[in-house]
Amino acid sequence: MRLIFYFIFAFNLLLPKSMMAQESRTDWWTDARFGMFIHWGLYSGAEGLWKGEKIRHFNNYAEWIKYRNRIPTEEYGKLAERFVWDDINPEEWVLLAKNAGMHYITITAKHHDGFALWDTKVGSYSFKNYDPKSRDIIAELADACKKHDMKLGFYYSHWVDWEHPYGWDHNRELTKDLTDAQFDQYWQEKVIPQIQELLTNYGDIAMLWFDMWIPHQQTIVKERQLRQIIDMVRELQPACLINSRLGLPVSDPEIDFETLGDNQLGAVYQNNPWQTPGTIAHSWGYHALENDWKSTNQLLQALINNVSLNGNFMLNIGPRADGSLPYESISRLEDMGKWLAINGESIYKAGGLELRARQYDWGKITYKREGTANKVYLHVFNWPLDRILRFTGILNKPSSVYLLSDKLQNPLEFKQSGPSLHIALPHKQPDPYISVLVLEYENNLELETKVAAESSFGGVSLNYSNELLQLNKSTKLDRVSPEYISLEKETKLEWQVYMKEAGEKQLSISYANPSKTPVEISVGNDTQKSIQAFLSPTGKIVVEPNENFYTEEFVDSHLSRMDFPEPGYYTITLNAKLDKGEKLRLNWIWIE
Ligand code: GLC
Repeated sequence: MRLIFYFIFAFNLLLPKSMMAQESRTDWWTDARFGMFIHWGLYSGAEGLWKGEKIRHFNNYAEWIKYRNRIPTEEYGKLAERFVWDDINPEEWVLLAKNAGMHYITITAKHHDGFALWDTKVGSYSFKNYDPKSRDIIAELADACKKHDMKLGFYYSHWVDWEHPYGWDHNRELTKDLTDAQFDQYWQEKVIPQIQELLTNYGDIAMLWFDMWIPHQQTIVKERQLRQIIDMVRELQPACLINSRLGLPVSDPEIDFETLGDNQLGAVYQNNPWQTPGTIAHSWGYHALENDWKSTNQLLQALINNVSLNGNFMLNIGPRADGSLPYESISRLEDMGKWLAINGESIYKAGGLELRARQYDWGKITYKREGTANKVYLHVFNWPLDRILRFTGILNKPSSVYLLSDKLQNPLEFKQSGPSLHIALPHKQPDPYISVLVLEYENNLELETKVAAESSFGGVSLNYSNELLQLNKSTKLDRVSPEYISLEKETKLEWQVYMKEAGEKQLSISYANPSKTPVEISVGNDTQKSIQAFLSPTGKIVVEPNENFYTEEFVDSHLSRMDFPEPGYYTITLNAKLDKGEKLRLNWIWIE
């Protein structure tokens, strides 16, 4: 055994660094869960306004002002003169991140405008050539990160570059005047040497964050160009992570983590590392007219949601051209930091549990294993009115249940029956934002992954998020709000429920638009029972008065009562036979 161990150890040492496994490279990042994104560049000096005009077109991302307002490159460069260098201190950003409980920072070293924040020797589009008072902010940020033990990553816009004559500019979709050879010239004379500088001159770089939001095949960028970047990263900084917006799929072994769309929160449990880049308001870069601030609660929920599905959250701030931040940003980060100082145990090094997706109507759960102990954290977004927290999905009995904010870990009373746990909550929620309960288990968790969760209001709602046969071909899951199941032809849907006690229950259904569709709903355990129901046709409802905007009306209809002869699990099956072209929309079946 020992021999084998030594052999493996020695073999590992012999491996070239570039073969460092993706999994071990991303460990720190997965554990960290929360990071800071900084959009700062010439656009910060424009503040979302150009000569009295707001950013053109529908999306007012402040960092797009050069492109949207057609600002000539030289004139745009002069924005550097607005920067207040005496006040700019990147260490303040690092301390802000630290106090917010963030574990890494990613800054826009070069955004789409093509302007470098560091003293690049490649080309002349950087601060030092536009303002003699300027300093190398990337160097200062790298020093501050080192000093405060903060990981540092660089955003680098590789595909889009509005400065270089041969960089990509979306207007070229119309002008079609860029050849592959020209784009490669941009790549070889700007992209490659600049990334090389960033990987050589600023110490350890934790990640390179690229920004191509469609697969590279749909762009001018070639796979070999992307591989050129990868090879250089792996050679110069083998531990540096690369995100999927490089333009390659997450399945590519060189892509370390997936970046979802801007502000797109996770919706499904995933095992591969992933993140959401999110804004604190609307714009990424500083915008003088910003008034779309997200609340602290919303941002905390975003973070918790992602961790509950094994993801990360990278929250963006946009400092001004004097380095300062609006009070709205600072206060939110400080409040998140205070929350994490108390509740961070449920976030850092924690992940999700694969129970029925999005099944709790009171909040989200995260999970962590510490030695042999298992801890499940219930994040209560909505403190139940009857002060009972209903948690479904784990069969073992917790050894203790307490509030994470309670240093004494005073036990909370609970009742367990099968996969259902009822916890008696204190009358007042302890945290003004989100309170967290800890369930400790001594043994391995026995998960009941199929059972539908009990609602905060006592019943069970069977709907698209807890349906079991979602791969059924004729079942279409409409994820657009309102979330319903659209049924066609012959369809069978199935759910599992747990009944704590025997007895009769009322079943009701919320549906739209059948033409006298016969529906059979059966409750099965050993004795298969079923009810037949004809769902009478439904009509339309006015959505917006006087705007001729009507839609299908969902109707709530009581089905008959059904007997659940003994406590335990039951399968609820819905069979519907629809004629060609007919559609039945199902919101839910409610059992109470
Ligand atoms: C988009 C925008 C960009 C922003 C980025 C952040 O790709 O083009 O301005 O930097 O999203 O995720």
